[in-house]
Amino acid sequence: MDFQLTEEHLMIQKAARDFAVNELLPGVIERDEKQQYPAEQIKKLGELGFLGMMVDPKYGGAGLDTVSYVLAMEEISKIDASTSVCMSVNNSLVCWGLETFGTEEQKQKYLVPLAKGEITGAFLLSEPEAGSDATSQRTKAEDKGDHYLVNGTKNWITNGSSASVYLLIAQTYPEKGSKGINALIVEKNSPGITVGAKENKMGIRGSDTHSIMFQDVKVPKENRIGEDGFGFKFAMKTLAGGRIGIASQALGIASGAYELAVKYARERKAFGKEISQHQAIQFKLADMATRIEASRLLCLKAAREKDLHQDYTLSGSMAKVFSSETAMWVTTEAVQVHGGYGYVKEYHVERLMRDAKITQIYEGTSEVQRIVIGRSILS
Ligand code: CAA
Ligand code: FAD
Repeated sequence: MDFQLTEEHLMIQKAARDFAVNELLPGVIERDEKQQYPAEQIKKLGELGFLGMMVDPKYGGAGLDTVSYVLAMEEISKIDASTSVCMSVNNSLVCWGLETFGTEEQKQKYLVPLAKGEITGAFLLSEPEAGSDATSQRTKAEDKGDHYLVNGTKNWITNGSSASVYLLIAQTYPEKGSKGINALIVEKNSPGITVGAKENKMGIRGSDTHSIMFQDVKVPKENRIGEDGFGFKFAMKTLAGGRIGIASQALGIASGAYELAVKYARERKAFGKEISQHQAIQFKLADMATRIEASRLLCLKAAREKDLHQDYTLSGSMAKVFSSETAMWVTTEAVQVHGGYGYVKEYHVERLMRDAKITQIYEGTSEVQRIVIGRSILS
């Protein structure tokens, strides 16, 4: 597989890096402490085309490939994973889902403003009692002829309060299991929707994670995505690409921590020499670099397969489980390389370590990725 980056890829990578350093780095510690949503920064990301990167320009997107998206996600995540999760949800769950399976009317009405970054979207699958076991959800979308009547609660929703548009996965025919589920486009300001309090999280504290309650919410029939009962497949197909986004987020968190560790190891002296000259520290850096490179190749492979319209479900899950476990390991070691300084906020690595953990949980836990990989091997 050809991993040669083009001039255009390098330009996008640089634009994302410049944005991260100039726009995200200055307030990142404060936003983390105050759990502040990066509203201004997300608006600017949208203006630069980073919220609809892979969407066709005729729908307001940047028309770029998935490799560009991986490169941009890595650069943004090196500095601010709270911002990159908003970017990932909007690009690879909401925009991709709408562009791939939406009707022309749905695309004109919802995809265009989402891809231009004028508004953002959220993806509502998880529930208080249905996370990994996504088919066992209880939120109901009753068929009432010209509309669906939605009742239930969705949990842990990224962009829950900031989004204007929700892609909701809900049960219409409980007796049909995964084939009785529908995907609906729901406007956040619809009567009957209540946004719960913001979750007080370990990491990605700037991102807005909320429960969303639905009480007798009417959703017009024309807002259903795909055929009746397509909702679970819609969710699974969309998440297959979303996992490339989160894998790239994990890659960025790991490479951000690694770069800080290398810089610090060259500056800090102990026992008369730079700590980078102690072999124990050198070996840590060597292992970090090796695991990060393997993560990057897995992310690029999955992205390339998606761009070539090949099946990327397996490689996406491999990229996600490997990169997220790499992120957790690398960030923990980066704190170790920093010694006591790694344990305080000014040095950034403690935040990256807290941010890394979520990549092993959302968009399918590491265990779920292994289920997907295992089934693929044995099928
Ligand atoms: N593409 C297309 N169809 C798929 C598919 C895929 N990738 N994966 C499964 N399906 C289909 C199956 O073929 C099956 O259809 P048929 O009956 O027609 O064959 C149907 O879906 C049911 O599949 P399974 O029997 O495999 O379902 P399961 O109950 O065993 O669950 C699972 C499989 C992989 C564990 C799945 O439930 C899963 O992915 N769970 C994790 C949920 C998740 O990732 N949530 C993320 C929420 S979003 C989020 O987290 C965003 C964020 O943080 C920012
Ligand atoms: P459970 O499914 O209850 O899992 C608990 C543990 O059991 C895990 O370790 C899991 O891997 C393990 N486990 C479960 N089943 C198996 C099995 N069959 N084999 C082996 N181990 C198993 N969801 C959305 O829909 N949209 C969002 O935007 C979104 N954003 C999120 C943001 C944050 C910050 C968080 C924390 C979550 C978010 N989620 C979102 C939800 C996330 O996708 C779920 O938390 C995740 O899928 C796991 O579900 P759960 O929390 O119910 O854990």
